[in-house]
Amino acid sequence: MHRSLLPLAIVFAALPLAAGAQSAKPALYTAEQAARGAAVYSQSCAACHGTQLEGTAAPALKGSVFGEMAAAQSLTAQTLLDVIANTMPQSDPGSLKPEDNAAVTAYILQQNGYPAGTAPLANGAAGMSDAKITP
Ligand code: HEC
Repeated sequence: MHRSLLPLAIVFAALPLAAGAQSAKPALYTAEQAARGAAVYSQSCAACHGTQLEGTAAPALKGSVFGEMAAAQSLTAQTLLDVIANTMPQSDPGSLKPEDNAAVTAYILQQNGYPAGTAPLANGAAGMSDAKITP
């Protein structure tokens, strides 16, 4: 009787480990790309979102407030890129080149603790839609 409960106990004991593995932030951009994104950001975004992404006239793009907004919208790296490409800069939506949208998205990920990797961030790239944005 008691023996049949043992496998279940093992499954529950392993759950926190599995959850921890899922929350590890994936590498979705290159360091070079994020550096270019920083320049794009200061030129096209900082006026509204703050030089440190802290939020001024427009919402913060890093930290817990951004994380809560991202969670509420189930934002992924892909939808973040889509939002930026389609609606930002708010003063002139869609005016940035695709590679600049990708670079500034890379910069925002970097500022939120995502690690750099070897493959550049791009529309539809592997892992983009699986990567939930968390602070
Ligand atoms: C003229 C001011 C202005 C500029 C410039 C601007 N933004 Fe925004 N942005 C806003 C405002 C206001 C909001 C909040 C309302 C909204 O979501 O449309 C916003 C919202 C956002 C959001 C959150 C959207 C969501 O999911 O709710 C992101 C991400 C973002 N901006 C990124 C950027 C990036 C990247 C740039 C530079 C390429 C940029 N913004 C430039 C004003 C601006």
